[in-house]
Amino acid sequence: MSSSAGDPGAGRPPTASPSTHPITLRVNGARKQLDIAPWTTLLDLLRDTLDLTGTKKGCDHGQCGACTVLVNGKRINSCLSLAVTQDGAEVTTIEGLASGESLHPVQAAFIEKDAFQCGYCTPGQICSAVGLLREGRARSLDDIRELMSGNICRCGAYPNILAAIDQARRQGNGGQTP
Ligand code: FES
Ligand code: FES
Repeated sequence: MSSSAGDPGAGRPPTASPSTHPITLRVNGARKQLDIAPWTTLLDLLRDTLDLTGTKKGCDHGQCGACTVLVNGKRINSCLSLAVTQDGAEVTTIEGLASGESLHPVQAAFIEKDAFQCGYCTPGQICSAVGLLREGRARSLDDIRELMSGNICRCGAYPNILAAIDQARRQGNGGQTP
C-alpha cells in the first residue's frame, strides 16, 4: 500500500474518538442524564459538571473525607467512586440537605456548637454525620469519634464537631435525608 503526499493522515494510527457513557442520577432530588468519560469520578462530576462545589476536594485519595456525599443514603468518599458505577443512584450533597429555608438538624447543630473554623471540611463532616446517624450505631461520644475518624479537620475543630453530632444524635433526627 502506498501513501499519497496529499493524505496528511497516511501512516498514522487511527485516533479513536473519546468514548462517553450515558448515566442517569438523581442528585438532590433532580434527575440528571449525563454522558461522561468512564474515568470521571463522582466528585469531579458533582463539582465540575453539575457545579455543586459544596463538596470539597481535599486529598483526592480517600484519606480526608472532604468529598463525602450520600449515595442511596450511605456515606461514601466521592473521590474514590467512578461516576459510571453509580448509574441510577440517588446522590445527596451538602446542597441537598436543607429543606428550603430550613437547615438540616445536623447543619443547625454545627452552627449552634460552632463546629467549624475555615469550613473546608464541613460539608464532608456534615454528610458523613448524617450517614453515621442513619447507620444507628453511635451510642456515645466515643462511638461518634470512632465512626467519624475518616473525616479529617485541619483546623482541629473536633471537640465542637463531636458535640454537634452528639446533639443531633440525642435529638434523634440527625439521620434524616430529604
Ligand atoms: S478528597 Fe476524597 S477522601 Fe480526600
Ligand atoms: S474547619 Fe477547617 S478544616 Fe475543618
